[in-house]
Amino acid sequence: MVPALVAVVLAGAPNATEALVRLECHRCHEVENVAPPPMAKQCAGCHVDLSSAASDPQRMKQGHAEYGEAFDRFVRRTATLYVDVPPLVGLARFRASWLRRWLKAPDDLRPHLAESMPRLRLSDADVEVLVSGLGLSADAPLPTPPAERLAQGAALFDAKGCATCHLFGNARFRSQPAALRTFKRPAVSVYARAPDLRHARQRLNREVVVQLLLDPRAVNARAAMPSLGLTADEAALLADYVLAAPLAAPVKAPSTPSLKAPAKRRSPVRYEDVDARVFRKVCWHCHSNADFADGDGGPGNTGGFGFKGVGLSLASYEEVMNGSIGPDGEYRSIFRKGESGEPVLLEVLKRRVHENQRDFVKPLEDGRSSTLDASADAPLGMPLGLPALEPEELALVEAWIAAGKPRPASPPGAMPRPTMGR
Ligand code: HEC
Ligand code: HEC
Ligand code: HEC
Ligand code: HEC
Repeated sequence: MVPALVAVVLAGAPNATEALVRLECHRCHEVENVAPPPMAKQCAGCHVDLSSAASDPQRMKQGHAEYGEAFDRFVRRTATLYVDVPPLVGLARFRASWLRRWLKAPDDLRPHLAESMPRLRLSDADVEVLVSGLGLSADAPLPTPPAERLAQGAALFDAKGCATCHLFGNARFRSQPAALRTFKRPAVSVYARAPDLRHARQRLNREVVVQLLLDPRAVNARAAMPSLGLTADEAALLADYVLAAPLAAPVKAPSTPSLKAPAKRRSPVRYEDVDARVFRKVCWHCHSNADFADGDGGPGNTGGFGFKGVGLSLASYEEVMNGSIGPDGEYRSIFRKGESGEPVLLEVLKRRVHENQRDFVKPLEDGRSSTLDASADAPLGMPLGLPALEPEELALVEAWIAAGKPRPASPPGAMPRPTMGR
């Protein structure tokens, strides 16, 4: 038994609680002993709530009465993101060294969860307050079992069906469903919450893994992992295997969109298409018009998630042209040349493509080096913490810029957003 792991008593760690609220971690995460923010602020809570209406005829009827057919789209689209964010519960199970490094430069732990933890601009002091305030585990040495034991562990892993939910780096198992290897993103499925076990050796001490295998909810009260009725010997064998098996070569990135210039398009690109497929489909949720949402323009406009905000609204052509507020407090164009000589807008979109690809090549574990600086201060890829644009969408933005950024023929139609909780 590891009693210290049973619960993180945040009440006894006021500094960590203050940091979690100030940095708005609770807009995406359910946080133990911390009240959620108002519904209008909850990226996860509102998506969970709206998507759950699908199974409630009464709510669908009410929704249609209020929003018409758009309500079907709300329900469908909210179900693709922020409905499986892991709750921040029992965080004391993690190794302090992992959280310290990961908060500054998070990579993708759950390959079947479309959204990832965004790279936030956390100061060293914020990270320390969180790491020490949450009472994380000191690193214990990892096991070094003989090869024979690792082979036994691999067989048991297969036999117990662990591979039906978990990827383990690039290792293949007979019991592994083909769907688990396709990385189709975004994918909401029973696998969404299961981490790739290649990360476990950085995240968890052996003692914790054994405990978690015997009784997942003793370590993490909100664990979605089933209790598999393992014996103590089996749990010990599996812990050794998961923490010490050599990691195979990295899994190839699911899609490798070409970053070359797009093919010549026959028809002219319209702003309306860029708006519908990029700006107001994805970006607008963090770069919206502040007047529209009671003064909250989202993390990328008026600020949030610990960001001060850069004043960028992508809600209309005029605002896209207004650009963002620079360090000197003056507006600057998002089409200005970036480091690579390309317009900043294209640079941030391509950066996210690279960030997504890097998540599948772990520099620390595979001896490969990434050229991408993913530290807290490095430029952020957009959309922040979300799947990169599809190649066609990227090509559309590129073609629109190349065509001289034509303005829309008519003002965009209203795109209602539910106002529950406001
Ligand atoms: C925009 C939404 C968002 C915000 C804001 C956010 N997170 Fe996350 N976080 C996520 C998602 C999504 C994951 C799952 C990532 C994965 O599994 O790859 C995650 C994962 C985590 C994990 C790993 C949990 C586990 O069980 O593996 C920790 C720890 C964490 N976040 C801490 C924080 C802290 C601390 C903050 C505030 C400083 C924060 N998060 C803010 C979306 C968010
Ligand atoms: C009050 C409810 C509510 C809140 C709060 C909310 N959303 Fe949404 N979100 C929606 C609805 C409704 C849609 C579908 C919009 C549509 O189809 O026009 C949506 C769609 C999205 C999409 C597009 C999904 C797709 O199909 O590609 C993204 C991205 C998104 N939200 C991000 C966020 C983020 C980030 C936050 C927090 C800063 C947030 N949302 C907060 C209701 C909400
Ligand atoms: C039904 C799906 C499912 C099965 C089967 C399953 N797990 Fe899990 N496992 C999860 C989920 C989901 C989590 C993430 C924590 C949570 O939410 O429960 C997890 C977490 C873990 C973790 C912690 C990883 C981390 O980085 O935090 C380990 C280790 C683990 N599982 C090992 C195993 C082993 C070994 C087996 C087979 C005996 C197994 N799991 C079977 C779903 C599953
Ligand atoms: C989950 C929230 C979120 C989403 C979604 C998002 N952004 Fe951002 N964006 C931010 C934040 C926060 C910043 C400010 C970062 C900072 O302070 O450095 C930002 C900054 C930017 C900048 C930098 C402005 C400059 O002039 O340097 C650009 C450009 C940008 N976003 C474009 C986009 C585009 C295009 C999309 C959609 C494909 C998008 N963003 C989606 C949160 C988001």
